[in-house]
Amino acid sequence: MKKTNETFPAAEAILDGSRFIRACLRRPVDRPPVWFLRQAGRYMQEYRDVRKHHTLVEICKQPELAAEVTITAAEKLGVDAAIIFADLLLPLEPMGLDFEFQAGEGPVVHHPVRSAEDVRKLRTDRAEDLGYVARAIQKVAAHFKDRLGIIGFCGAPYTLASYMIEGGGSRNYIHTKQMMYRDTAAWRALLDKIVIVLTEYCRQQVQGGADVIQIFDSWVGSLSLADYRDYAFEATKRLVRAVQEMGVPVIYFGVETAGLLADMASTGADVIGLDWRQPLDEGWRAVGHSHAVQGNLDPITLFAPLEILELRVKDILRAAGGRPGHIFNLGHGIVPGTPVENVQAVARMVREFRTEAAHG
Ligand code: CP3
Repeated sequence: MKKTNETFPAAEAILDGSRFIRACLRRPVDRPPVWFLRQAGRYMQEYRDVRKHHTLVEICKQPELAAEVTITAAEKLGVDAAIIFADLLLPLEPMGLDFEFQAGEGPVVHHPVRSAEDVRKLRTDRAEDLGYVARAIQKVAAHFKDRLGIIGFCGAPYTLASYMIEGGGSRNYIHTKQMMYRDTAAWRALLDKIVIVLTEYCRQQVQGGADVIQIFDSWVGSLSLADYRDYAFEATKRLVRAVQEMGVPVIYFGVETAGLLADMASTGADVIGLDWRQPLDEGWRAVGHSHAVQGNLDPITLFAPLEILELRVKDILRAAGGRPGHIFNLGHGIVPGTPVENVQAVARMVREFRTEAAHG
């Protein structure tokens, strides 16, 4: 699609799905699109009901269920985009790493990758085993048609590698950084393998009907700028470019990234996801206005009274200043216990906001 700066013709009705995609490409829209990181999850009764009968991985692997969970959340919230229900760790399995989600503990990888030999054993020829995600996307796309934007996703090379090496979440990423510094050849071979599998996985999702791919680099904030440049940037950029060549925009998101934003933008991603620790306008300046941005309400603000919530939502909308290329979202995922009605209220506040109002 050609990137232009035409002003948005007020008379033209805009479909919600195209509003989201237009914003990814920094084309003018009537109001910012809105969706929420982790919009389908345990804070929602409908999801908990499905979870009573199925594990997380079962939901992901049954396209009918994954599509239902995706659709229910997007419709209930009144958002402009639906993110496919899946998990960051699914690609580990066809690469040869078993994992499970332990209640209250998060993901556990049974035999973490710790050596060059472990890296060598990882397989890159079985990405088609992940086809259930693309099949779920097809169902979501058939349901929404052009009404909503459909987001496919995957982890970024660094974040996925950190799960493979640490065997789960981590505080200090000691094993990951040890491999990075001490066996750089194995580290690079690992990222290469991850990029091969993720490229294929994203291709399936795009062919299934994803309009946009979001790359989650959730834990990239654990890297210094120098380490990001030396050990993570190149593989990430390769993945971003490969996905863009499939004809869809890329959203690249991380947390605690204030010092990394300009370099993250250099990957060429169309949209950079911002966390909440920095005002949106400052983050956008660091990213550069030649990229769109997504964010950046603190997800815990969703526990605040509506007056405070509204103040913070308006702060963000004003900071965006009506500039084309802002997608309203949180600065990280919705947490369990979040009142659903507050998430709905935020979606309403953004839907009712008109871009002109930002100048008034
Ligand atoms: O609407 C949505 O966004 C839901 C789809 C989704 C899930 N995981 C389902 C899920 C998405 C986009 C993810 C991505 C994901 N998974 C990330 C990146 C996003 C981020 O927050 O930075 C990460 C780091 C993971 C890995 C992961 N999966 C962790 C750390 C956990 C445990 C966290 C916890 O709260 O228990 C999961 C489990 C998980 N993935 C849940 C959901 C709804 C909750 C557990 C459950 O239902 O049993």
